[in-house]
Amino acid sequence: MTITRQRLLEMMTAYRSTYLLRTAVELRLFDALADGPADAGEVAATLKTSPRGTRILLRSLVAAGLLDADGERFRLPDGGADLLVTSSPGYAGANVNVASSDWEWDTMKRLGDIVRTGAPLTEETADSPGCGYWVDFAENLTFVTKAGAAFVAETLGTGRADILDVGSGAGLFGYAVAGGDPLSRVWCLDWPNVLDVARKHAERLGLADRTGFIAGDAFSVPLGGPYDVVVVSNLLCQFSKERSSALLHRLSGVLRPGGRLVIAGFTTGDVPPAQAHHAHMLELLMLAWTAGGEVHSPDDYVRMLDACGLVGARVHRRDGLPLRVVVAEKPADADEEEQ
Ligand SMILES: C[S@@+](CC[C@H](N)C(=O)[O-])C[C@H]1O[C@@H](n2cnc3c(N)ncnc32)[C@H](O)[C@@H]1O
Repeated sequence: MTITRQRLLEMMTAYRSTYLLRTAVELRLFDALADGPADAGEVAATLKTSPRGTRILLRSLVAAGLLDADGERFRLPDGGADLLVTSSPGYAGANVNVASSDWEWDTMKRLGDIVRTGAPLTEETADSPGCGYWVDFAENLTFVTKAGAAFVAETLGTGRADILDVGSGAGLFGYAVAGGDPLSRVWCLDWPNVLDVARKHAERLGLADRTGFIAGDAFSVPLGGPYDVVVVSNLLCQFSKERSSALLHRLSGVLRPGGRLVIAGFTTGDVPPAQAHHAHMLELLMLAWTAGGEVHSPDDYVRMLDACGLVGARVHRRDGLPLRVVVAEKPADADEEEQ
């Protein structure tokens, strides 16, 4: 690897792309161009913004590659109508609330202090009950939520199943598994404010009549059960290895004999760090936002599942998806428990 002045300058100024995109999304600027090209005065009139501010912002957006221009008229680039206009089914702009949230933005200005202390500086952390960031996360979905959920469902290929989705967020992982059979039922476990969003997704997907909700702390709330499938997606990175193991132990207790525990999420350690960019950035966030969280390796997960007495733990990966899916089974002759 070689560091160049050019690369350093790109890294020093990369946040400009972020604030340009955030601002254009906040102002709904792309909507103002949805019906066709417009000049700065027309856009300013639609947005009710200053003509001078709008003209300078529009030209900056062209410079950043977020708009095209023909002389003084500005237009959406290829992909813009699909991804950046709020009425489009593929609208992705709202994801700025997750991918470049105010919380991350403010927190990371003090990353040096966080590294000095090794602990979060804010009172609210990602594992605080009802942490508001997770509502945004559930509402806006990340770019890999749907693909990750489909990957889990295809990996399990399950028939009729009772499913527990732990730290469910929007619920899409459990819903994807339940969608495989009309008799499957799913229970979403999360904080009450996040479950309000999961409920909306269940209704949207026509799964409301076979979805239950368990509100509370995954470490202590009664889990119900027993279940054929327990899914834990993108949750364990919030916890240390010890706490993750303790949670998996608890969850394996509510599996039916022959039932499967599924971990899905970003992992580190199985490929060079440069090939796991998102996972390492996530780990930095977990340092800043949790008491002891870190991104675990697939081997860690296999060891944790083995230690729960589950068998046949296997790591699944899919080209183009940064998530790993690790599945293990409760032995068919194990005792059935309820909690
Ligand atoms: C990163 S999100 C993952 C959401 C979803 N599973 C997914 O993969 O899209 C983590 C979720 O876990 C929930 N959560 C965190 N700590 C929790 C706890 N102790 N008990 C219950 N839910 C928790 C958060 O509220 C959040 O919705």
